[in-house]
Amino acid sequence: MNFQLNEEQLAVQTAAREFANQELLPGVIERDNHQKFPSEQIKKMGELGFMGMMVDPAYNGGGMDSISYVLAMEEISKIDASASVCMSVNNSLVCWGIEKFGTEEQKEKYLKKLSTGEKIGAFCLSEPEAGSDATSQRTTAEDKGDYYLLNGTKNWITNGSSASVYILIAQTHPEKKHKGINALIIERGMEGFIVGKKEDKMGIRGSDTHSLMFTDVKVPKANRIGDDGFGFTFAMTTLNGGRIGIAAQALGIASGAYELALKYSKERKAFGKNLSEHQAIQFKLADMATKIEAARLLVWQAAYLKDQKKDFVKAAAMAKLFASQIAQEVTTEAVQIHGGYGYVKEFHVERMMRDAKITQIYEGTTEIQKMVISRELLR
Ligand code: CAA
Repeated sequence: MNFQLNEEQLAVQTAAREFANQELLPGVIERDNHQKFPSEQIKKMGELGFMGMMVDPAYNGGGMDSISYVLAMEEISKIDASASVCMSVNNSLVCWGIEKFGTEEQKEKYLKKLSTGEKIGAFCLSEPEAGSDATSQRTTAEDKGDYYLLNGTKNWITNGSSASVYILIAQTHPEKKHKGINALIIERGMEGFIVGKKEDKMGIRGSDTHSLMFTDVKVPKANRIGDDGFGFTFAMTTLNGGRIGIAAQALGIASGAYELALKYSKERKAFGKNLSEHQAIQFKLADMATKIEAARLLVWQAAYLKDQKKDFVKAAAMAKLFASQIAQEVTTEAVQIHGGYGYVKEFHVERMMRDAKITQIYEGTTEIQKMVISRELLR
């Protein structure tokens, strides 16, 4: 693996850093306070090519590699993890899922608008009783000939109200268990589809997380992704890649908090000298930086393997497991270094500490990552 970023990757990293500082930073505290989705900012991210980074230019995407994607994810997540989760779901789950497994018609109709951010996508797997246990889907897609009749509820859906294209996982043949599950593309506005309550969350409060209700929604057969019964494999395969995006998000939250703590330690005086001159603080900074570097290497390794079309499942789960763990630790230490200031909103690190927690929960909890890793080890 080459650790030297090429010119294009460096340019993407710089563009994402500048965008995050100029466009996301100014309102991030207010959006967190008022649970306000960053609509304008996401629109600009689409215009700049951040919403369909890896999609083939034939479908309006950036045609970039996964390394460029994780670099951009890290920079955006340093400032605003609510914006970056929207970006991650759109890129890794929705665009990638349709590009990899969708029909030409689906790519023309949906992917072209998703990759420019003109439309935002959502990925609907979790249910009130099926979060980690994803095979236990209660939502049903009954085969009615040329359409599916969809009934059920999805929970904790990222981009729940901002999306207009939803990939939904539902059970068609319960007797076949996970082999009877389908993945369907649902459009906002289909009769019987209601966006339910918005969740009042601990972190990523600018992200719109909703429950979704489906009552006798008629979904054309043309909207199924892959063959009949492919839905569970589709979801698992897509999530394998999605975990690289969330690992990069966790890395970004950690590195953003670390950078703020480093800066603060050089400015704040205690006992007659800067905090950074106290060995207790130096040791904290050393630990934080080391953890971040290790997480970055895991994230880059997973992205590199994906780009090389090698098996990246274990690497992605390891990257997510580790990066989400250190995001917890590093943001907590960043608050500690800031002392009382760290506990108030103005200094950003308390938000980052709250935001970090979700990276241990979505796209597979810490425990799920360990299941995925051990499955790969024991295979
Ligand atoms: N990649 C590909 N296929 C996989 C897989 C993986 N990582 N893990 C399992 N599978 C396949 C298996 O090969 C098996 O297929 P076959 O029967 O054809 O051989 C099938 O799935 C069932 O496997 P298991 O019997 O092992 O299934 P399980 O029920 O014991 O566990 C699991 C599977 C790994 C725990 C899985 O259910 C899982 O990943 N759950 C977590 C789901 C998740 O990440 N939810 C997050 C919601 S989406 C989200 O958060 C998006 C957002 O908004 C940010």
